[in-house]
Amino acid sequence: MIPSNLADLVTFVPNKEEPIHNWFYYKEGYAKKLVEWLVEEFRLEEPVLDPFAGVGTTLLTAKQLGLKSTGFDASPLAAFAAETKTRNYKIWELEKQLEEFSRLSPQQIGKFSNKAIRRLFREKNLDDIYFYYKKINEITDARTRKLFLLALIDTTSRVANVIKIGGSLRKQKKPEMPVKKLLLGKIKKMIIDLKRVRIEGPEPEVFEADARITRLKEESVGCVITSPPYLNKIEYTSVYKMELGLFFNAQETKLRAHIADAPTGRDYESNLPLIAKAYFEDMEKAMKNIFFALKQGGKAIIVIGGGCFPYETVESDDEIIRIAEKLGFKLLQKIVARNVTCMRCRTIKVGPVRESIIVLEKPSVN
Ligand SMILES: C[S@@+](CC[C@H](N)C(=O)[O-])C[C@H]1O[C@@H](n2cnc3c(N)ncnc32)[C@H](O)[C@@H]1O
Repeated sequence: MIPSNLADLVTFVPNKEEPIHNWFYYKEGYAKKLVEWLVEEFRLEEPVLDPFAGVGTTLLTAKQLGLKSTGFDASPLAAFAAETKTRNYKIWELEKQLEEFSRLSPQQIGKFSNKAIRRLFREKNLDDIYFYYKKINEITDARTRKLFLLALIDTTSRVANVIKIGGSLRKQKKPEMPVKKLLLGKIKKMIIDLKRVRIEGPEPEVFEADARITRLKEESVGCVITSPPYLNKIEYTSVYKMELGLFFNAQETKLRAHIADAPTGRDYESNLPLIAKAYFEDMEKAMKNIFFALKQGGKAIIVIGGGCFPYETVESDDEIIRIAEKLGFKLLQKIVARNVTCMRCRTIKVGPVRESIIVLEKPSVN
């Protein structure tokens, strides 16, 4: 049965209340409860693959359900968050390190080299972040180091002079912030989550990779649950430029959409904006790899939304179904989760676009 709150489940909002899932807020993600429902409703089988894993909602939920899974994402930040949220930890090791950190007092020991990003902070706040960044890099246990770094990344976005609104960063001046208190508070909360949610399931395989070119072993996965970037949404890179620039050495010039890097203009043959044409070409490459990796009889669930342009909207679900059928998939169901209104200049309505869940099957040859 379709959940009555499906429109909420295609968003990350319900994850705010979910321990571990809420370690890093990712507006582009979907809810743990959506993955749970999909697994049960469509009797999905392991191993689960998510080739656009984001911050690991599919992978962490699979682990919580005791299912094996593999996932990757082109963003080093998302892949890092997904990995960190899905590891098993030695709690005593984390507590010992936290105790050591509580004895430290931040001092000015240097600065991040990325000047453009430095401008997004009050100097003292960023100096404290830098201090803890250096201290975290000295932690010898890799898992502890990564968990502390994820906590620092979260703290950094709290003390920055910007907030994330929609697809962009908006200025919001902050006073001098208690970086130490925020960081240690975050780590404490993460440890409490780990104690509260004892997960026995297998650790997922997580890595940074591009779904357009990454081929897993043929017929090696039991199902796919994924949500590719939506058409004409390039905020993955711009909204996270602060975190990517400070902690992942990403250059802003390289921070473009990983899908559909095309100039503006129109393709006269398909009557689509060039970016939409490039997007569907890229989606076809990713879908081909999904088909290859999926076992016969396996299901692929694709959560997808349409694209907003200044003077038009482009629905993606039917085009993705067309591509999937061309590749050999069989369409089992299309469920419209919600309609979203596209806006221009924040106030002018352009029109509605669908956000849908596409359920596909790779037919058995025999
Ligand atoms: C809609 S989000 C997925 C969110 C995920 N379901 C979650 O709950 O966290 C799409 C993800 O695709 C990633 N992405 C964009 N282009 C990619 C590519 N070519 N290969 C792999 N991942 C890509 C983005 O970084 C983003 O994290």
